[in-house]
Amino acid sequence: MKESVLKHLPNIVRASLEGDKRTVELAVMTIIRKIKKENPSLSDELAGILSTYGAGAPLTRSLGIDPPPTDKESYLSLVKISDNSDLGDKIVLSEGTSIIVDRFLKEREVMGKLISNGIKPPNSLLLYGPPGVGKTFLAKVISKQLNLPLITLDLASTVSSYLGKTGQNLKKVLEYAKSSPSILFLDEFDAIAKRRDDPTDLGELKRIVNVLLKELEDWPNNSIVIAATNHPEFLDKAIWRRFDIKIEMPLPDATVRLKVWIENMDKDIVDIPIDFLEFISQSIEGVSPADIKQISEKVLREVIVDDTDPRFALIRVLRESYSLSIPNFNKTMVKKLKSIFGKKITQAQIAELLGLSVSTVNHHLKSESKLQN
Ligand SMILES: Nc1ncnc2c1ncn2[C@@H]1O[C@H](COP(=O)(O)OP(=O)(O)OP(=O)(O)O)[C@@H](O)[C@H]1O
Ligand SMILES: [Mg+2]
Repeated sequence: MKESVLKHLPNIVRASLEGDKRTVELAVMTIIRKIKKENPSLSDELAGILSTYGAGAPLTRSLGIDPPPTDKESYLSLVKISDNSDLGDKIVLSEGTSIIVDRFLKEREVMGKLISNGIKPPNSLLLYGPPGVGKTFLAKVISKQLNLPLITLDLASTVSSYLGKTGQNLKKVLEYAKSSPSILFLDEFDAIAKRRDDPTDLGELKRIVNVLLKELEDWPNNSIVIAATNHPEFLDKAIWRRFDIKIEMPLPDATVRLKVWIENMDKDIVDIPIDFLEFISQSIEGVSPADIKQISEKVLREVIVDDTDPRFALIRVLRESYSLSIPNFNKTMVKKLKSIFGKKITQAQIAELLGLSVSTVNHHLKSESKLQN
């Protein structure tokens, strides 16, 4: 062995005995670089130890799958693996979406029956819709329901600035995902598709996308591919066609919003009347379930810390984050507060809660009575 490699040995021994993992890691990485050409199998083995050491390793072992592939130079893992068996939260979907998802799950559960009749079970899903509607969440739910590990392609480390490498990385990930029953999740799928617009990248990216299309075509029956995107318009028809099932996940309507509000305004923590949440669901449009979750968490914190009425807390949080994007927010809220609390709330209190002047509150209330007359 080369002198330049051996000289790291004392350092490594000392650091391992002292439990200094970082120094061991750095020294081993130096060695990997030095021996890469002469002894590729040893350097690969060392790289494998480094990359699976730590968080990912026990998980992959418990799932009975091989350690994940890594980028050749950075040794970063190209995928994130998650076991969703203890996913607790409940996903809320529109009726139309639920029907499609349930159907897919059912066909997967009886796939043996389909295969024995010479019929291919569906194994590719495309989820599309705006941010925060639960695309990533749905992938996890499916992973839980079908009891398959979710292998998420990490586009940040896979789509390298060197496109040649991107292709290699993608191939590694595809091979890995196919090697045992799993769900390959191509999150933010448009990151690949979008870059096809870049004229300098065109040739290589086209090849990459072609590799992907080909792979999708003969993806093994015991594995699934799920892709998610906020920008379906960037995907070309060839890609679109390759997915067995496409699921549109739009922003929720008032009925779905109400379910999400109820789910998030945990009954064990706050006591908030259902009719108030109904009012909120109907008047606050354009919010995603992720927005609702975030708003609810803020409200719960306020209720617990300050012992505020949850309705006040909710109106305040909405005012801070959403009032500008909601038409007639102030007017609607002034009227609602008056109708709920009647004489128990003064105009000054309403003004304070909504950050308005008393005369504006007065004005809104008068405009209401004019309407009623
Ligand atoms: N339909 C839903 N039902 C219940 N909770 C939801 C739903 N959608 C989103 N959430 C909550 O919001 C969080 C964030 O949603 P998620 O990351 O799945 O959205 P996304 O559609 O993947 O967004 P993006 O396009 O930004 O990736 C979820 O972890 C979940 O807690
Ligand atoms: Mg997502």
